[in-house]
Amino acid sequence: MTKKTGDIRDIWSRFTTGVAVITTLEDLSSDLWTASQVTGESDFPTSVHGMTANALCSVSIDPPLLLLSVGFGRRSRNLIEVRNRFGVNFLNTAQLDIAVNFSSSDPDLNRSGAVDYWYTEQGTPMIANSLAYIDCKVVNHFEVADHVIFIGEAEHFDLGEGEPLVYYERGYRSLNNGDD
Ligand SMILES: Cc1cc2nc3c(=O)[nH]c(=O)nc-3n(C[C@H](O)[C@H](O)[C@H](O)COP(=O)(O)O)c2cc1C
Repeated sequence: MTKKTGDIRDIWSRFTTGVAVITTLEDLSSDLWTASQVTGESDFPTSVHGMTANALCSVSIDPPLLLLSVGFGRRSRNLIEVRNRFGVNFLNTAQLDIAVNFSSSDPDLNRSGAVDYWYTEQGTPMIANSLAYIDCKVVNHFEVADHVIFIGEAEHFDLGEGEPLVYYERGYRSLNNGDD
């Protein structure tokens, strides 16, 4: 096949994916933070950051590794590197607003207040009522072009509820209704 001019993003827009939000802790300076201090949402000492993502795939089942690609400019990049952990939250169709909000580049967007979170034993923030979640420890990372590839090992994971939120041709959809 010959190489055509045009936008490679148009090609990828034909690749249908689910939609995830990557969750991390916002406060880089808080060395108060340990998993043992996590006693509930209300007294958690720092705030949560979330980033909409679909450059995500399974690498292996045993061990359970996954790959996440994060652009250099994303605030999530530094947060993941500092904590060495991240949460993967697969969204359902009732969580469309979260997907839209957490793809915003607005640094002032309040990502903590807008959503209900809970915390794993390791202290990773997770979005309540998602389709499924995975709590990952970073076991490797490397730079490729202008992205960091994080390899995460799934330490805790479980299923939730709902119908999957789907991303196709730059739009959010559901499996049943096409456009969502
Ligand atoms: C459907 C969708 C999927 C996205 N997937 C990724 C991704 O996998 N990696 C990435 O770095 N950015 C991705 N983005 C862009 C980020 O969500 C966006 O740049 C966000 O503002 C980054 O937030 P942060 O800089 O606060 O971490 C995606 C955006 C959308 C709408």
